[in-house]
Amino acid sequence: MSIVVIVGAQWGDEGKGKIVDLYTQHVDVVVRFGGGANAGHTLVVDGNKIVLHLIPSGVLHPKTRCVLAQGTVVDPAVLLREMDEIAARGLLGPGRLSISDRAHIVLPHHPLIDGLREGEAGKNAIGTTKRGIGPAYEDKIARRGVRMGDLLDRARLTDKVERNRAQWQPVIVALGGKLPPLAETIDDYLAHGERLKPYITDTSRFVAEAIARKESILLEGAQGTMLDVDHGTYPFVTSSSTIAGGACAGAGIGPTVIDEVVGITKAYATRVGGGPFPTELHGDEGSRLREVGAEFGATTGRPRRCGWLDMPALRYAVRVNGIGSLALTKLDVLSGLGELRLCTAYELNGQTLSELPYDDFDKLVPVYETMPGWTEDITKCRSMNDLPVSARSYVARIEELAGCKIGLVSVGADRNETIMMHDPFKR
Ligand code: IMP
Repeated sequence: MSIVVIVGAQWGDEGKGKIVDLYTQHVDVVVRFGGGANAGHTLVVDGNKIVLHLIPSGVLHPKTRCVLAQGTVVDPAVLLREMDEIAARGLLGPGRLSISDRAHIVLPHHPLIDGLREGEAGKNAIGTTKRGIGPAYEDKIARRGVRMGDLLDRARLTDKVERNRAQWQPVIVALGGKLPPLAETIDDYLAHGERLKPYITDTSRFVAEAIARKESILLEGAQGTMLDVDHGTYPFVTSSSTIAGGACAGAGIGPTVIDEVVGITKAYATRVGGGPFPTELHGDEGSRLREVGAEFGATTGRPRRCGWLDMPALRYAVRVNGIGSLALTKLDVLSGLGELRLCTAYELNGQTLSELPYDDFDKLVPVYETMPGWTEDITKCRSMNDLPVSARSYVARIEELAGCKIGLVSVGADRNETIMMHDPFKR
C-alpha cells in the first residue's frame, strides 16, 4: 500500500494525466483534492477522445474508485455531462465515483461574474478559464457558499442560493450583467442533486476507510505550484491550494499518512493565461515548442505560452511541495533543437537570485546555461542508456539543479513511451 500525492511543479499542464494514468494501474482510489472544471485532460478510449475536467482520469481503470473531495468546486452540470460520457462507455459502475457532500458548487452566476470581471480588467486580466472558479472559492472563504449536500434539500438550497445571490447582485449589475432567474437555478440544481444523490457522501470518511484497509491511494493535484493561491505568482494564480499540502486539507486526511510526493514537470515550460513567465520565448523557438508539443489548452483551447525550463521555479516547487521524485515529461518535444537552454538563476536589480522572489516577477532577467541538443527520435527509448548522450546530460543537469531525483522520463504521449526508474507505488 502507498499513499502518493501528485502535483504539477510548474504552471499546470505538465502532463499529469498520462502519469496519473500510468500509476493508476496499481491504485485502488484516485482522489481529486482541489480545483474544478478549470482543469482538463484529454483521454482516448477505444480511439475516441473524451475531455474530462472534473472526474479523475483513473476512471478508465475499471477497478479504480474515483473521488471528488471537499477541496474541489463542482459545477454539477459539467460533472453530469462527464458522467454521461463515461457511463456510455460502460465505465461508471456502482461505487466508482464519490463526491463530497462538503464540496462547494459552482452556481450559474459564478462563470458570469468571472467572465465580466475578466472583460473589465484590461491589461490586469488574469486570463482565467472563465469557469467561475474564483467566485466559487470566494464564496467558500466568505462563508456564503453552497455545497453539494445542499442540492438534496429544496428549502435549504433555496435559502442559501437566495442569500448568495443577494451578495453578488450589486456586483453583477455594476459590471453590466444580469443574474440568471432564481426559479430556474433552483429547479435545475435540485434536478442535478436528484441525479447526483447516489454519489454524494462524506468522502473524507471514504478515504479514511480505504486507508484502514491498506489500499493504495493517489491524490491527484490540479493546476500547478506556480498557480497556487499562497505560493504561486500571485495574483496571477488560481483560487485554490494546488500544492501537496493542499491534498491533506482538500481530501481530509492527515499529513502523516502520505508516503511520497511526486512532482511533474515538462522538459521545458508553458503557461496559459496572463502573468509572469521569466523564461518565455516569444519568437520562432516558442512557436516551435507550441507546435511540436501541441501546447493548446484542454479546457479553453488557448495557445500556451512556451519557454525554457526555469530551474529556480522548479527548485522552489521541490521545496514547497516536499517533492521526493520528479517525473520529467515531453522530453521528445526537444528532439531536433540544436541547443537547449536551462535557466539557472535570475538577475534582479544587479543581484543574482537562485529562487523565486516574493514579487517583481516581471523584472526578473533569466540567467541561462546552454547545453547541446540531440537530433535522434527518442520515442522508442525505454531506459536512460537508450537516450542520446546529450539527452542524458540534460536530464542529469536538471536533477542536479533541482536537487531532486528524476524517477520517470516521458518520451511520447503513449502509455508505454516512458522510461520508469522509480515507481512510487512499489515500495
Ligand atoms: P482560474 O483557475 O480559471 O481562475 O484561472 C486562474 C489562472 O490559472 C489562469 O492563468 C488560468 O489560465 C490558470 N489555470 C487554471 N486551471 C489551469 C489548468 O488546469 N492548467 C493551466 N492553467 C490553469
